[in-house]
Amino acid sequence: MSAVGTVTLSPLTPELRAGVLRIQVAPEQVRFGGVPATSVPAGDREHPRESVVILRDGEPVGYFQLDLRSVPGAPAGEDIVGLRALAIDLAAQGQGVGRAAMLALPDYVRARFPGRTTVALTVNIDNPPAIALYSATGFVDAGTGLYHGGHAGPQHVLLLKL
Ligand SMILES: CC(C)(COP(=O)(O)OP(=O)(O)OC[C@H]1O[C@@H](n2cnc3c(N)ncnc32)[C@H](O)[C@@H]1OP(=O)(O)O)[C@@H](O)C(=O)NCCC(=O)NCCS
Repeated sequence: MSAVGTVTLSPLTPELRAGVLRIQVAPEQVRFGGVPATSVPAGDREHPRESVVILRDGEPVGYFQLDLRSVPGAPAGEDIVGLRALAIDLAAQGQGVGRAAMLALPDYVRARFPGRTTVALTVNIDNPPAIALYSATGFVDAGTGLYHGGHAGPQHVLLLKL
């Protein structure tokens, strides 16, 4: 972890909020997971969602949401939590932050949502970096086929068993 620094996950707090809202992705990446400037306010309005901050050495460099209703196109249930709106700041991409965050995810979910034993997500078939990231951190295809209901094109449905 020396190259990437120390990566930790935290619920969004008022102190972290301004830093999270500054996180940017490349313009062509916005369609995959949005940007915190829009996804954080959306998360605020949806109470079954928790906003999670990815910190590197204490500084916000990434963001995602955990949704107790799962995500559109993926299995849902009392044992499932959905992951949505993952974004790593463009300046921090390709340095292992996303990988470290996904490797920290099981402990985070177990601590925050006892009883949830599966993380579900959908990922655009045109997003090989994200597909590679999820594959490298234990997510597997749900076996339900592609999800065609999103506005950004077909999606793989992936599951991580905790
Ligand atoms: C996809 C994303 C989350 C990856 O995070 P990251 O911190 O850049 O990824 P890491 O540096 O931890 O890389 C982890 C693995 O992801 C894959 N990966 C990351 N960037 C990649 C790229 N440009 N091309 C191919 N694979 C890539 C690789 O498998 C990599 O492992 P490796 O370095 O051993 O090859 C980040 O690029 C991002 O925020 N993209 C824009 C938003 C997005 O697509 N969100 C996902 C919505 S489902």
